Amino acid sequence: MASGTIETAILSPTQENLDRLSDWIRQGGVAALPTETVYGLVADASNTGALRQVFEIKGRPLSNPLIVHVENGEKLLEWAELTGDLRRTVLTLVEKFSPGPLSYVLPKKFWVPELLTAGRPTLALRIPAHPLFREILRRSKCALAAPSANPFGYLSPTSARHVQESLGGKLRYVLDGGECPIGLESTILDLSRSPMRLLRPGKISLEEIQSVLPDKEILLPEEERALANEEIALAEKERAGHIPGEADEFASPGAPGGPRRHYSLRTPLHLFFKTEELLLAKEEKVARVFLSRKDREEVFRNDFFLSEEGDGAQMAQRLFGLLWELDTSRSYEKIYCQCPPSHGLGAAIANRLRRAAGRLKHGP
Ligand code: TXA
Ligand code: MG
Repeated sequence: MASGTIETAILSPTQENLDRLSDWIRQGGVAALPTETVYGLVADASNTGALRQVFEIKGRPLSNPLIVHVENGEKLLEWAELTGDLRRTVLTLVEKFSPGPLSYVLPKKFWVPELLTAGRPTLALRIPAHPLFREILRRSKCALAAPSANPFGYLSPTSARHVQESLGGKLRYVLDGGECPIGLESTILDLSRSPMRLLRPGKISLEEIQSVLPDKEILLPEEERALANEEIALAEKERAGHIPGEADEFASPGAPGGPRRHYSLRTPLHLFFKTEELLLAKEEKVARVFLSRKDREEVFRNDFFLSEEGDGAQMAQRLFGLLWELDTSRSYEKIYCQCPPSHGLGAAIANRLRRAAGRLKHGP
């Protein structure tokens, strides 16, 4: 995947390297840094030249806005136009969930560069928790814009190696902070509209946000709700002996570059919802990914488990890495992956799987 002419250095997090990276970013350079969710492709949010490089390196259309990462609630208030009830609501959420994997879409200050917001009146802001990312925020004294550090349309990277393999040759530095502890991109909550909307599910679940804001209505994207309902119906069908397959209405449309392709894997991905009757694919060329090993007496060579013990956080943490391995190994013609029920962290995992399988059209 890698192409380009720049030599990409993977830096270990020494004091010297943290200073070098902070200077580089302050001077308009772009670097990949670890966050607690996924690796980000980072630039000074006030430097339009640097922001342009981010779009170029990712191959991302300028119509897709960026998230700005700041150190704390005070800095967030410098970028967002917040008054009255909205201000109180945001501060309540910041108090409860930040620093952490929650991004806030808010009315922007008038001077915020258009390039960050793709011309919208709103800006996405996040206060990240990863100690290395926070160290660069502190040393560079910049707010940092960062999309996930992957080529546009592919899986988000959860290790420095993923960044090197997919963007190596296109950027100067990758800071190696090991594997990202959460492994899925942040939850995105749009508070600029009433009722507010959960644009992207993540580690911080709808249920958790709702419990902090019991009087507020929070809407889910309609397409997501409809799919969750279809999946419940399919799980019922599977219980009755139906085996999902290529001809199934839930199979990937398999048209690379088509409108439903996000996280576009080279290997077609199919989702299934129950395991009891899963007779499919003991064949060589098919990988089967299960959420957990529990209750699986018979395990085949091409069976993989997101978590041996069925731990939700571990499933999320391993999801992109395992799909990445299976996809880039070129050993499989198809991947079948079990999709969890859509609540709590399961909603975030299901969302990423639907996108990777080409089932979900819209959304960040
Ligand atoms: O966990 C994360 O959020 C990671 C790490 C690096 O912080 N970042 C990340 O950024 O996932 P990105 O650019 O890959 O995804 C952010 C999504 C984009 O799809 C974008 O469309 C959406 O957030 N977004 C950004 N600004 C927005 C806005 N003003 N209104 C609605 N959606 C917005
Ligand atoms: Mg992304």
